[in-house]
Amino acid sequence: MKEKLEAIKNAAKEAVSAAFDEKEIEELRVKYLGKKGELTAILKQMGSLSPEERPKMGQMVNEAKAQLEELIGKKAKELKNAATELKLKAETIDITMPAKVKKVGKLHPLNTVLNDMIDIFQSMGFDVLDGPEVETDHYNFECLNVPADHPARDMQDTFYLGTNLLLRTQTSAAQIRTMETRKPPIRVICPGRVFRADEVDATHSPVFHQIEGLVVDKGITMCDLKGVLEQFAREIYGPDTKVKFRPSFFPFTEPSVEVDVTCSECGGKGCRVCKGSGWIEILGAGMVHPNVLKSCGIDPDVYSGFAFGIGLDRLTTTRYKISDIRLLFENDKRFLDQF
Ligand code: PHE
Repeated sequence: MKEKLEAIKNAAKEAVSAAFDEKEIEELRVKYLGKKGELTAILKQMGSLSPEERPKMGQMVNEAKAQLEELIGKKAKELKNAATELKLKAETIDITMPAKVKKVGKLHPLNTVLNDMIDIFQSMGFDVLDGPEVETDHYNFECLNVPADHPARDMQDTFYLGTNLLLRTQTSAAQIRTMETRKPPIRVICPGRVFRADEVDATHSPVFHQIEGLVVDKGITMCDLKGVLEQFAREIYGPDTKVKFRPSFFPFTEPSVEVDVTCSECGGKGCRVCKGSGWIEILGAGMVHPNVLKSCGIDPDVYSGFAFGIGLDRLTTTRYKISDIRLLFENDKRFLDQF
């Protein structure tokens, strides 16, 4: 039995020193020291020994057990440290490596210009409102003084979604919705997308953007319209900008005007951007037609107002010298990254 114990001890020592990972050492612990382990098996055989031999043998087995326990514990610790070291080495960060560039999104140029415009009008006391893109004939035409057989309907090629539903051709529809829900004094702008069945080319798109403006109060005159638009033009194009009002026609304003500003590129001398004229047309406007006020339940003998519709796309292409309006809608990242 003594020899057997010696043999087990030696085999165990050898196996432990050869173990190369924590799993293996755990297996050895079970093999030798576990409940069904080899040393435990020897203890169980002690019954066959004589009473004198028993305590001696018992002591030897216990000593062997203690030795092995210590050995295994030491080896397990060593292996654990080695594993940690290896892991740390593998996780080292090379701070000299070039950093990964994080791409941050940017505002679309249309939004940049729109935000500037909103700032300008808000500083003059205008509220910003939203309106639906799918409109009824009633809001887009009827209430704006354009009955069904009116020739002015030909000015705007409409996408119809049914007999009464359409994609709004102008943000002017928002004028009516505003006057139906608000009482004068009214001072609002309503930016948004509008739709017309236009042929696509460098200056035309079936989807574009307008900013509608509406002011209604007692004693509002054409002077107020001029003042607001001049102030707007100076803020967006610079203090030397001149504004020109040309007589025009819109069914929902009387009198109506189209408004040009001095070309921001050449200062009015004439260049490619303004096609040599020195002026750029940026909006349509006028005094709200009495019929429109009436259709919204506002008494035209007490109140008056003005309205304007600014083309956002034209403003954006001239500011950034974008030669083709289609670029604004194609979402080509190479183009958008330039802003
Ligand atoms: N809605 C007109 C257009 O799309 C512009 C406009 C707005 C004119 C408000 C007068 C008043 O052409």
